[in-house]
Amino acid sequence: MLVLENVCKTLPGTPPRRLLDGICLRAEAGTWIGIRGESGVGKSTLLNLIAGLERPDSGRLELDGVDLAGLDENSAAHLRRRSMGFVFQAFHILPHLSAAQNVELCMLLNGVPAPERARRAAQMLAAVGMEGRGTARPAQLSGGELQRIAIARALAHQPRLVLADEPTGNLDADTAAAVLQLLSRQVRAQASLGIMVTHSAEACAMCDRVYLLTRAGRLQAD
Ligand SMILES: Nc1ncnc2c1ncn2[C@@H]1O[C@H](COP(=O)(O)OP(=O)(O)O)[C@@H](O)[C@H]1O
Ligand SMILES: [Mg+2]
Repeated sequence: MLVLENVCKTLPGTPPRRLLDGICLRAEAGTWIGIRGESGVGKSTLLNLIAGLERPDSGRLELDGVDLAGLDENSAAHLRRRSMGFVFQAFHILPHLSAAQNVELCMLLNGVPAPERARRAAQMLAAVGMEGRGTARPAQLSGGELQRIAIARALAHQPRLVLADEPTGNLDADTAAAVLQLLSRQVRAQASLGIMVTHSAEACAMCDRVYLLTRAGRLQAD
């Protein structure tokens, strides 16, 4: 379970700008949560806080009882590697690795033995509709295919938390819908918790719950 309690973040500057103002959220495993908001309201910042990449000015963030804001950098990196998966707008597939090697990446970092990595990568590729495409090079793949690979990579090490930042921002409408269906289905199938931030109301159509992040930095049910 992820718990955010009164999370605040102010940007330095003159005058300082209160970006996130008392964000509260409780979300359980097995759910796919959407947070939508206009460009610049602080969606990516909120995900960075949840990932432990940034610190809140005040408030509490907890993942399965672990205080995320209280972790030192090493522990936060360890928790990210073990327990989190990331999907980005720009895919971030490594161009010099094959599709399967990209999917194996987090497992490799977590010390999963090679045969188990290969087995799991093949299983994940099949789950995202890319069965038998493990040897494909990223340059040969379309945007939709790259995002499928990214989803397989984000979920292959069975993270408790999947964080997606505008995962369909670079995809056409039909491809976006297919990718979101896949992502939501896979998050639920693995009993993970998925948090997606997006500017797109359509992208939230398959979410179990949707919130709106407002210009005033408040999170409200949508
Ligand atoms: N480290 C930072 N220092 C200064 N300004 C930042 C920093 N990070 C983000 N911002 C600013 O905070 C605002 C929100 O950014 P972001 O979280 O990326 O919004 P969104 O993802 O909703 O578009 C933007 O105005 C951005 O320029
Ligand atoms: Mg953003």
